[in-house]
Amino acid sequence: MVSNKKLNDWVNEVAQLCKPDSIYWCDGSQEENDRLTQEVIKSGAATPLNPEKRPGCLLFRSHPSDVARVEDRTFISSVKEEDAGPTNNWVDPKELKATMTKLYDGCMKGRTLYVIPFSMGPIGSPISKIGVEITDSIYVVLNMRIMTRIGKTVLDVLGSDGEFVKCLHSVGAPLEKGEQDSSWPCAPMEQKYISHFPEERTIWSYGSGYGGNALLGKKCFALRIASAQARDEGWLAEHMLILRLTDPQGNKTYVAGAFPSACGKTNLAMLIPTIPGWKVETIGDDIAWMKFGDDGRLYAINPEAGFFGVAPGTSMDSNPNAMHSIEKNTIFTNTALTDDGDVWWEDIGHDAPDHLIDWKGNDWSSSSSEKAAHPNARFTVPASQCPVISDDWEDPAGVPISAILIGGRRPNTIPLVHESFDWNHGIFMGSIMGSEITAATISDNIGQVRRDPFAMLPFIGYHVGDYLQHWLDVGTKTTPEKLPKIFYVNWFRKDEEGNWLWPGFGENSRVLKWVAERVSGGGKAEKTPIGYMPTKDAIDIEGLDINTDTMQELLSIDKEMWQKEIKSIHEDYKKYGDKLPAELKKQLGDLQKRFEG
Ligand code: GTP
Ligand code: SPV
Ligand code: MN
Repeated sequence: MVSNKKLNDWVNEVAQLCKPDSIYWCDGSQEENDRLTQEVIKSGAATPLNPEKRPGCLLFRSHPSDVARVEDRTFISSVKEEDAGPTNNWVDPKELKATMTKLYDGCMKGRTLYVIPFSMGPIGSPISKIGVEITDSIYVVLNMRIMTRIGKTVLDVLGSDGEFVKCLHSVGAPLEKGEQDSSWPCAPMEQKYISHFPEERTIWSYGSGYGGNALLGKKCFALRIASAQARDEGWLAEHMLILRLTDPQGNKTYVAGAFPSACGKTNLAMLIPTIPGWKVETIGDDIAWMKFGDDGRLYAINPEAGFFGVAPGTSMDSNPNAMHSIEKNTIFTNTALTDDGDVWWEDIGHDAPDHLIDWKGNDWSSSSSEKAAHPNARFTVPASQCPVISDDWEDPAGVPISAILIGGRRPNTIPLVHESFDWNHGIFMGSIMGSEITAATISDNIGQVRRDPFAMLPFIGYHVGDYLQHWLDVGTKTTPEKLPKIFYVNWFRKDEEGNWLWPGFGENSRVLKWVAERVSGGGKAEKTPIGYMPTKDAIDIEGLDINTDTMQELLSIDKEMWQKEIKSIHEDYKKYGDKLPAELKKQLGDLQKRFEG
């Protein structure tokens, strides 16, 4: 029992419906964490890693059908269908609640119901928001403890009448008396529901135990519900990393970056610059909440407390800071296990040993053609373990953002970097963003390019047209020079043989340098039909082994390709109907004219 009546009533109501064997309130203590860890090891659901190699680390293997977010089973169940818009699945909330209530009925039999009070953002900060997740998964409890601030201190702030977002989660696998639990309980795909009721600020998730489907503070609350709150309250909840860039003179520039899932946010946020004297420090790697400060600038906080990062591809070459972060106290999900109790994944930077246990729990040998780790295998780690965490990452006031990067995986058309003419043109650029679909979501179309406005396609809690109008409105709330400058980047351009044209990772600092120069008033640029582009010599390529032809190609604009692009944007905009902001229609017309003129 706690002092908040609304919370008690809700927990009782859920318990009556879900019928767990017991109820447990998480206090967030180390003792609690140790006890649950022992329990989950004993049950066989988690494998402890070798304490000499990875102290305090666990490995979980999910069910092979439950490996990523499920966009087809994700619903924005607003009262009116038109408020969900063309990019979200919608079901009438009454109907959806009826369907899900049947599923929830008795779904926690044989299990414990855990109550997790959590704060998105530093506890007690005026920008932070409180949620309470009810779950029947210890995996969720252990992960939420890393990804958010949980426990008693949150209840203290909530007090007897505080508001909280209700986050209900069940793996959807009740146990009969004496029935042996599986190591990753979940429900079949057609019974999975990741549902949002934006008007009620409520989340109902059923049937999946993985990532964004189950750790409800992350995409469900901090993006889908928070984006609706942000629209109502005049701020922004975005799928963005936040970093602090320091130049050799010590000048600091705060940069946010919106890239779709598995498109490089964690990597950029922890980047080690290859250009001498420059430094990048991490504030967040996935989500930014941005509000205006009294000085009229946009300030960002990272509402999370940990990183849920993509493991494959992470190596001492690509992201040493991530590798150091995950040396201890880390939960690994769906990586491979070595015979000496360590983890392995594709492109970890050293060859696979002859024998591994793969992510499905099967023997794997180096002659096997299957991947040893799932492409969406993840690590969960406290942000405080990152060697380059910025000293102001928990500043309750947030950090002032000077530049917003947007980008995705585009093998062609989009150059390495270009800058918007102004705010509205930047919002237009955000609206036309495209990217190849990655393994971060379960899809038959991985690799296909889709439009993904501001990397928020699967995360906007309302109509995409209203969302873009909200971005335009934000631009009118202050004077233009106080707004961040907007840059469209593309690390993923390929040559005809399919090789990356740009080395990426640490070398992306060369682009960050130009961005910082542009923000401070320097940085050479020329006007092109798509925006300001760096002049030939504007990007510092000293010490980089890249030939001028490649550089030219990276910064080229192919008129024919862009004409195709414009046609495809026209097509995409059609689905907005009369919710397409007039300004964006005008921007598209202007772009077309600039190519004709
Ligand atoms: P989510 O956590 O799903 O939101 O992903 P994210 O945007 O944080 O992506 P992350 O940084 O984890 O990168 C995903 C994949 O992209 C990894 O396999 C990286 O190795 C790869 N990647 C990241 N940055 C670059 C880059 O600059 N160039 C290339 N070629 N690949 C990159
Ligand atoms: C993403 O897909 O953008 C992620 C992973 O960051 S998940 O938490 O599963 O959403
Ligand atoms: Mn993400």
